[in-house]
Amino acid sequence: MPSQKRYVVLVPAPLQGHITPILQLGTILESRGFSIIVAHSDYNAPDPKNHPSFSFLSLSDDEVASYDKSFQNMLMVLVAMNKKYRAKFRDYLVDHMIQNKVEVEVEDEDEDADGVSSGRCVIIYDRIMYCADEVAKELKIPSIVMRPYSSAYELSRKIVLHLKEVGCLPLPETQIEDMVPELQPFRYKDLPFPQFTTLAMTTSTNNDGIPEAVTKFWEVTHSNGSSQAVIWNTMEEIESEKTLSVLEQYYQIPFFCIAPIHKMAPQSLKTSLLQEDNSCVEWLDKQSPNSVLYVSLGSIATMNENELIETAWGLAKSEVPFLWVIRKWPNDMMKGNVKLPDHFEEIIGERGKIVVWAPQKEVLAHSAVGGFWSHCGWNSTMESISEGVPMICKPSFSDQRINARYVTDIWKVGLQLERSFDRGDVETIVRRLMMDGVEGNAIRKRALDFNYKFEVSMQKGGCSYESLDKFTEFISSLYM
Ligand code: UDX
Repeated sequence: MPSQKRYVVLVPAPLQGHITPILQLGTILESRGFSIIVAHSDYNAPDPKNHPSFSFLSLSDDEVASYDKSFQNMLMVLVAMNKKYRAKFRDYLVDHMIQNKVEVEVEDEDEDADGVSSGRCVIIYDRIMYCADEVAKELKIPSIVMRPYSSAYELSRKIVLHLKEVGCLPLPETQIEDMVPELQPFRYKDLPFPQFTTLAMTTSTNNDGIPEAVTKFWEVTHSNGSSQAVIWNTMEEIESEKTLSVLEQYYQIPFFCIAPIHKMAPQSLKTSLLQEDNSCVEWLDKQSPNSVLYVSLGSIATMNENELIETAWGLAKSEVPFLWVIRKWPNDMMKGNVKLPDHFEEIIGERGKIVVWAPQKEVLAHSAVGGFWSHCGWNSTMESISEGVPMICKPSFSDQRINARYVTDIWKVGLQLERSFDRGDVETIVRRLMMDGVEGNAIRKRALDFNYKFEVSMQKGGCSYESLDKFTEFISSLYM
């Protein structure tokens, strides 16, 4: 039989922190002989110019396009996307298989009216886009879930769902500092309760603090549907003891840990949804080694007026050079009409640089960068520690408190800024991390050890290297 193309259809969730790792995986798979198709939403669509050899399928829908896409409304938007995109995705897959002369075998009506058997296509999807798996199941196409975050986070969601099921929510305030028995050394306050803080949760008008829509979405996305494997952007060595094995036992499908995925993909690959401002790299070129604090809250997290003003003056008072990403429309980092203090940029002069969006991976790999003030999204965390850059953690929501606990208390490669802070706190924490001193030096040393750990894992014989090879074998077997 002539060799046939092996298609991988990627279905990313339309959020920067989810699109990036799946496109990185696609690029790696392409270099291993697979043909990549990306089925995407028009909202936060990847730029085809950055992936000239990929094919793209827009799953646009007029009704979804008209929805308010603010963070507060995102859950509803994601649920609607799953509902509306399903039929289009299915029709596309059937047409695609027929056009590409891939074995398409519509089974007897009696057996399964719409069944299509194809060994020449595999779907890899972000579990947020669970409709992809519904279609995969219907068409009998193998599917694989990509979870672009830590296994500790997934386990923490399982624990929250369980606490809800057994009626233990809301937690009494006296319990939030306690360690979670199934997830030590994490504490209840680190768990990803949908509200931004456990305290807010206790004052929620909902009985147990978790809205039904969130519970439903979590139940679906926590499961793996009919998928045959899970890909994680993580490594067993960095995860808290047993989180991966507990989940693997629970899910009963193979896990592949491919991390740090951004370093295993070609370094020239661009995945930013916003225009990167490269002038900050020229500015970094003029700074001394390890002197600059990079400040960025990823693509979604925001600051209120007080946080922004206190951060600005704290950075100013610290006397540490800084590169600060302040996003503007359409994903404004500042809530409402918040502005930097008058004349702030003049006051700071050459010591500070503010951009709307940075080439973050390049920034973190730059020798001038000595620290990263981050919201602790998983990509930012992996990008930072894999470069040996220590962190100041200011987590907001979802997995970020779990990630911050990893950074500060488990890996000990960073410091945590408390939830409510003023300019004095900022000045102190920045100096503690960035200036020469016993504490800062020890943190920096441990961060460099992480850089080494990741480098080893990606070399032949290393765990990520081997895991990628095993994954390639596994996915290849699905085409037989
Ligand atoms: C979201 C969630 O918020 C996060 O908690 C989860 O782990 C992944 O999905 P986001 O908040 O955007 O992601 O954070 P993060 O995971 O850090 O991803 C942000 C990405 O944007 C990173 O890959 C980072 O390199 C990139 N980025 C950020 C830039 O390229 N330039 C910037 O200026 C800022």
